[in-house]
Amino acid sequence: MSSKKKLGFATRQIHEGNLHIPGIAPLATPIFQTSTFIFDSTAQGAKRFAGEEEGYIYTRLGNPNAAQVAQKVADLENGEAGLVAASGIGAITTAIWTLVKAGDHIVADDMLYGCTFAYLKHGISRFGVDVTFVDFSQPGALKSALRENTKVVYFETPCNPNLKIIDIEEVAKQAHEYNKDITVMVDNTFCTPYLQRPLDLGADVVIHSATKYLNGHGDVIAGVIVGKKDFINECNLFGMKDMTGSVIGPFESFLIARGMKTLDIRMKRHCENAMKVAKYLEAHPMVETVYYPGLESHPQHDIAKKQMDGFGGMIAIILKASREKSEELLNAFELCTLAVSLGDAETLVEHPASMTHSTYTEEELLACGLNPAMIRFSIGLEDPEDIIQDIENAFKKVFG
Ligand SMILES: Cc1ncc(COP(=O)(O)O)c(C=O)c1O
Repeated sequence: MSSKKKLGFATRQIHEGNLHIPGIAPLATPIFQTSTFIFDSTAQGAKRFAGEEEGYIYTRLGNPNAAQVAQKVADLENGEAGLVAASGIGAITTAIWTLVKAGDHIVADDMLYGCTFAYLKHGISRFGVDVTFVDFSQPGALKSALRENTKVVYFETPCNPNLKIIDIEEVAKQAHEYNKDITVMVDNTFCTPYLQRPLDLGADVVIHSATKYLNGHGDVIAGVIVGKKDFINECNLFGMKDMTGSVIGPFESFLIARGMKTLDIRMKRHCENAMKVAKYLEAHPMVETVYYPGLESHPQHDIAKKQMDGFGGMIAIILKASREKSEELLNAFELCTLAVSLGDAETLVEHPASMTHSTYTEEELLACGLNPAMIRFSIGLEDPEDIIQDIENAFKKVFG
C-alpha cells in the first residue's frame, strides 16, 4: 500500500498491511491459523526455499497475520521493513543474535528493562560477546565505551523504569562517527511511533515490546523489529528461523492489528491522563520526586520536548518515606492494579526493584541512580479523576 505513504498516521495505523482477499472480501484480515502452506509442485517449493519466488512456506518463516502487523509498524516507524516476534525479548534477542558473534562488543545504556539487562549482562556474555554498560545521558560516556569491535549500541528512551531520556540523534551521531557500521538499536516501547520515531533521528533499528501500547489491551505477548529490508530479512531467515524460533502465533498477530487501529487515540489519552496524574503527584506532600518527561522538573525535559511528540503514560515516583511504606502504598490501591506490564487500558502499579527489575542487584540499581523504593505507574485510559482519587485514597490509608 505504498500510495498510502503520504496519508496520516491514523489512516495508516488502520489500513496499512491489511490483506485484501478478492471474492470473499472480509473487512478484517482473517486469521491464517495454519502451520504450513501448500506448494503447487516440488519446483515451486524449491523456488520458495531458494528465495526465487514470493510466497509462504511455513509459519516459522512467515504468516500473513504477522506480515500485516510487521508492515503496519514498519510503515508507522518510517522503516523499510518489520518482523514480528513472540515477545519483546524475542524481538531483542532475534535482532542481536543476528548481528553479533563471539569476540564482538555491545555498548548498552545502564538502565534497561530488567530482562533485557539480564540477557545482555548474564546471557549473551556466556557466548563470548562483551557488553559494556554506561549511562548514555552522561556526556562522553558512550564515546569512551566504543571499541573497534563494537557492533551494537543499545538503549531505551524513555528508560524503564526511571523515565531517563536519551538524546537519540546525539547517540546515533556519536556511534556512526566512530564507525558507520555500528547498529544503533532503540527500544521504542514506551513511546510507540505515535510519539517518537527513532529511525528519523538516525537510529538503525527499532525494537518494540508489542505486548504494551501497540496491542494496548493486555491480552497478548509480542515484539517487533523494524529496520532496513536486508537486515530484517536476515533477522527472519537466520535470527528467527534458526536461532531463537521466537515466532508469533497468527491469533496474537490478529489481536495486535486489531488493537493498533486505535493506537493514536489511546496514546493521546495516555499522555493527557499521565500529565494530570504527574502534576497531582508533584504537588503531593508525601512525594519526594516525580519522574515524568513532560514535567519541567524532569532533568531531560528539553530533550524529551525535542524528540517526542508527547510524553507518554509512564510515571515513576519516590516517596518521602521508607521502602516498606512504599510497598504498603502499592498494596493500598483499589482501582490502580498491582501488576507488571504497561500500556494497557487499566492503570497498573508495580515495584521495579522487587519485580520488573529484580534482575538487577540493589548495588546495580543504585549505580544507575535508581532508588529501590521507586514505584512505577502505567497510567491507563480510565477517567483521570478516578485514577487520582484512588491514589489519594491510598495515600490517606497509609499516611493518614
Ligand atoms: C521497555 C521494554 N522492552 C522490552 C520488554 C520485553 O517485552 P516482552 O515482555 O513482550 O518480552 C519490556 C517488558 O516489559 C519493556 O518494558
